[in-house]
Amino acid sequence: MDDKTKEHAVRFNEIADEYDEDPRPEYLECLNVVVGCADPDSSDMVLDIGTGTGAVALKLAKKAKYVYGRDISEGMLEKAKEKASEQGVDNVEFGVGSFNKPDVDSVDIIVSNFALHHLTDEEKKNTINGFSELGAQKIVLGDLMFFKKPDMENPFHKPEVDDPAYVGELVLAFTQAGYSVTNLVKIHNEIGVLVGKKTPDH
Ligand SMILES: C[S@@+](CC[C@H](N)C(=O)[O-])C[C@H]1O[C@@H](n2cnc3c(N)ncnc32)[C@H](O)[C@@H]1O
Repeated sequence: MDDKTKEHAVRFNEIADEYDEDPRPEYLECLNVVVGCADPDSSDMVLDIGTGTGAVALKLAKKAKYVYGRDISEGMLEKAKEKASEQGVDNVEFGVGSFNKPDVDSVDIIVSNFALHHLTDEEKKNTINGFSELGAQKIVLGDLMFFKKPDMENPFHKPEVDDPAYVGELVLAFTQAGYSVTNLVKIHNEIGVLVGKKTPDH
C-alpha cells in the first residue's frame, strides 16, 4: 500500500465506529441510486469496492448471488462484518482489497460508492480499466464528481482529503475501458452516479 492509501486507511480506521451516524442526505440519495442502478439478479456476483461499513454491499446481497466487499480499512471492514452477522446475511464476504488489487477473480457487476475520489485521475482511469479485466458487465459508480467548477468558498467535498474528477473525465475513462455510459444521475453539483455497460465486442 502506498503512503497516501495508508493515510486513508488510518483515517477511516479512526472514524469507523461513528461512520454510520448522521449520514448526509446527499450521501443517502447517492447510495440509494447506486443500489437501484446495480439491480443484480440471483445469478450475479458483485464486487463493492471501497465498501466501508458495507452499506451498499449488504443491500445488494438481498438480491445478488454473492457480494464481495473490499476496502483498505480494517476498522471499516470490522463494522461491515458485525452488521452482516447482526442482519443474518451470509452471501457476503468482507475483506481487505484496494482499487488496484481488489483480490477477487471475476465478477458480473462492480459498484463503488463515495470511494473512488480518493485516487488521482490517472489512478481512477487505471482502476476503471482493471474493472474490465475482472469481467464486469456493469459498473455503477456513485461518487463525488464535478458537473461544473465547484464553489470553493463552500465546497461539498473536503479539498484536503478528496480529489474528485470532472464527470467528463470519468465518462472518457468508462468509454476507453470498453463501457458505454447508459445512465448519469446528478445528485448535486459535486455528486453523481454513472452507469456503464460493457460494449459488445470490446
Ligand atoms: C466515504 S467511505 C464510503 C464507504 C461506503 N462505500 C459507503 O457508501 O458508505 C470511503 C471508503 O473508501 C475506502 N478507500 C479509500 N481508498 C481506497 C482504496 N484505494 N481502495 C479501496 N478502498 C479505499 C475507505 O477506507 C473508506 O472505507
